[in-house]
Amino acid sequence: MVLQHTGVLFEKWKSALYNWFRFPESALGETKRIGSRVCLIDDLSEGEKAFVIVEGRPVLLKRIGLEVKVFQGWCPHQGYSLGNAEVNGCVLKCRAHLWEYDMRTGKGISPRNSRLRTFPVTVDAVGQVFVDVGD
Ligand code: FES
Repeated sequence: MVLQHTGVLFEKWKSALYNWFRFPESALGETKRIGSRVCLIDDLSEGEKAFVIVEGRPVLLKRIGLEVKVFQGWCPHQGYSLGNAEVNGCVLKCRAHLWEYDMRTGKGISPRNSRLRTFPVTVDAVGQVFVDVGD
């Protein structure tokens, strides 16, 4: 019984230590969670984008290492959905008229004067992703 309880405590400690190494900023204090919980960071694969609806607003999520970027889910050109846009590395290409965006910043690549709106995102100590789409 005692050994079994010790094993459970060890597993909890191991999990906390693992998360501390993955999200060290969270060890300095509680991460301020803003917005809606969308997924776990482990649900996002590096090479892909995720298209989700948050509080009625379509958004794109892109994981880059331990960071998550969140952009508007529609193209600034003529408003087509970016849900089926093509991703090549960090380049997002709208299928409608082939405008391209840098998914690290949201800046337009082609044309350069375009831009995707970004939304604030936080990842808490256990890897939950929260997105604030505002009002
Ligand atoms: S609507 Fe996306 S490039 Fe035209």
